[in-house]
Amino acid sequence: MKNSWRKLPKPYFILAPMDDVTDTVFRRVVGGCAAPDMYFTEFVNVDGLQSPGRPRLLNRLQFSASEQPLIAQIWGRTPENYYKTAKELADGTFARESSGLEDINYAGIDINMGCPDKAVVKNGCCVALVNDRPLAKEIIQATQEGAGGKLPVSVKTRLGFNEVDYSWPEFLLQQKLDVLSIHGRTRKQMSKVPADWGAIGAIRQLRDDMDIETHIVGNGDVMSREHGLALAQEHQLDGIMIGRGIFQDPFVFAEQSPWAEYSKQQKLDLYEKHVRLFQETWGTSGRHIRVLNKFCKIYINEFPGAKEVRDMLMNAKDADELLHIIKEAGQNG
Ligand SMILES: Cc1cc2nc3c(=O)[nH]c(=O)nc-3n(C[C@H](O)[C@H](O)[C@H](O)COP(=O)(O)O)c2cc1C
Repeated sequence: MKNSWRKLPKPYFILAPMDDVTDTVFRRVVGGCAAPDMYFTEFVNVDGLQSPGRPRLLNRLQFSASEQPLIAQIWGRTPENYYKTAKELADGTFARESSGLEDINYAGIDINMGCPDKAVVKNGCCVALVNDRPLAKEIIQATQEGAGGKLPVSVKTRLGFNEVDYSWPEFLLQQKLDVLSIHGRTRKQMSKVPADWGAIGAIRQLRDDMDIETHIVGNGDVMSREHGLALAQEHQLDGIMIGRGIFQDPFVFAEQSPWAEYSKQQKLDLYEKHVRLFQETWGTSGRHIRVLNKFCKIYINEFPGAKEVRDMLMNAKDADELLHIIKEAGQNG
């Protein structure tokens, strides 16, 4: 599986990792609408995975045979734990432990060097690594050694810490990564300004000038496949990653999305499918029902009475109550 990225048609489209959003349940919902070319797990902490707290984190690595190919995204502080985690990802230990799967594995390992969360940055992790290159290098090397050539290793990051800093992608491109995904904002910018696609294009140019094979994936504010295709063409990118665009259109990866014509009943049916999968997968434990509130607005939108239905759904106590409200909403016109 070493070159799972190289097998993809270009430009390829990826569903971005989103914490508490892109779990196995939502990935299956998206796959049932219009599958991307590549999925990512939510980020999972290697220091936690290599501690007694490991069982509680395994749900972040859980997947099913239909969510393929899938990249496991990791983060943390300790190179040794990156090494151990990469080794166990590559040899199938985590696929077995998290999902009971023997013959099917992740398609790669991605290191999160982009999360701007305050607590994470305070610990020197994720985007803070922009300012600690010796540690960033050790982490990448430990992950590559652990993966042992069995899985490709990639990094997802931002344009810099306080400002756009091309020495950062240049440094990363020297680390023989299979893929470098760039969210076109700095840490300081969080999500407050539009993504800078010109800077993403400049990093692709840097890659070409360095004459190396690392793929460059662009990310930030892509709301449709056409938009992504135009950006990939303009900046000659290998791939496009879409995160929040999926909240506007669950069919965002489709060549022709039917979402604008979806009826109220079709939307309710899709949410019902999501809730049932959630119930089957996470049961009464595993994940809290409130996690579903994030999704409510995707489906329960743009039909008469949507807001009232949403208000009821947001206050539901369990999956059965959600299913009941969805059914009633369907019967009420
Ligand atoms: C709710 C949420 C959770 C996120 N969790 C992660 C994560 O676990 N790992 C990661 O690399 N990025 C994470 N991100 C960042 C996205 O992957 C992506 O880089 C960002 O949203 C910009 O892309 P977009 O404009 O297409 O959404 C998250 C973003 C959101 C909105």
